[in-house]
Amino acid sequence: MNIAVYYGSVKAIEDVSFNVNQGEIVAMIGPNGAGKSTALKAVFGMVPLHSGDMLFDGSSISALRPDEHVPLGISLVPEGRRLFHSMTVIENLEMGAFNRKNGDIKADIENILDMFPSLKEKRKQKAGVLSTGEQQLLALGRALIQKPKLLLADEPSLGLSPVYVDVIFDKLIEINKAGTSILLVEQNARMALEIAQRGYVFKIGGIFMEDKGDMLIENEKVKSAFLGG
Ligand SMILES: Nc1ncnc2c1ncn2[C@@H]1O[C@H](COP(=O)(O)OP(=O)(O)O)[C@@H](O)[C@H]1O
Ligand SMILES: [Mg+2]
Repeated sequence: MNIAVYYGSVKAIEDVSFNVNQGEIVAMIGPNGAGKSTALKAVFGMVPLHSGDMLFDGSSISALRPDEHVPLGISLVPEGRRLFHSMTVIENLEMGAFNRKNGDIKADIENILDMFPSLKEKRKQKAGVLSTGEQQLLALGRALIQKPKLLLADEPSLGLSPVYVDVIFDKLIEINKAGTSILLVEQNARMALEIAQRGYVFKIGGIFMEDKGDMLIENEKVKSAFLGG
């Protein structure tokens, strides 16, 4: 740990250490531009480390490409969903499974659709015509096709209607109960801390606080800065 990431010569995060224990939901909250997405991208190999090291199941993952994380059991729900808008719901799910070598992908896709009934009805529709909330469910479903041990999610509730924000958070709880650990970056700090066992609070360039989720919700500094007083 103790990772640093630079964009060119500009430091984005420095001296950042965090961990996710098996079975946990861990939240990362904090102001815009603090480096939360950068930290998540570093875990998934989307940005190179300037220094530090990251371990998963005891082995270093610091030098891996994003696609090399997936077979280890790490999947990402990227910020902004990054769906293939001209492809159907099913095709997007198939894309999530494209590098899977084992198992019955068709059956797994059906299982995902059973988890998300609103997508099941729209399985032949193009992703681009879905509502934002449905698109977010699809992005989540696409990541779950890989049966990850660790799910990384960057702002999964951003831009969603309140109803879908609740749906997404309920799904994250369900996914976690089924055995997947989750590292969750969220603007919706209160809801994130409510479902998380632990949280990290970022300031610009790094982490300045770590505690149990319920402790952070009660913390006066966190309350006034991120939970609306
Ligand atoms: N691709 C990039 N190129 C250059 N700078 C970037 C890039 N992505 C993020 N940054 C900068 O890195 C810092 C951290 O950004 P980010 O990790 O997106 O923060 P957060 O997710 O907490 O809002 C910001 O100053 C941001 O402008
Ligand atoms: Mg971000």
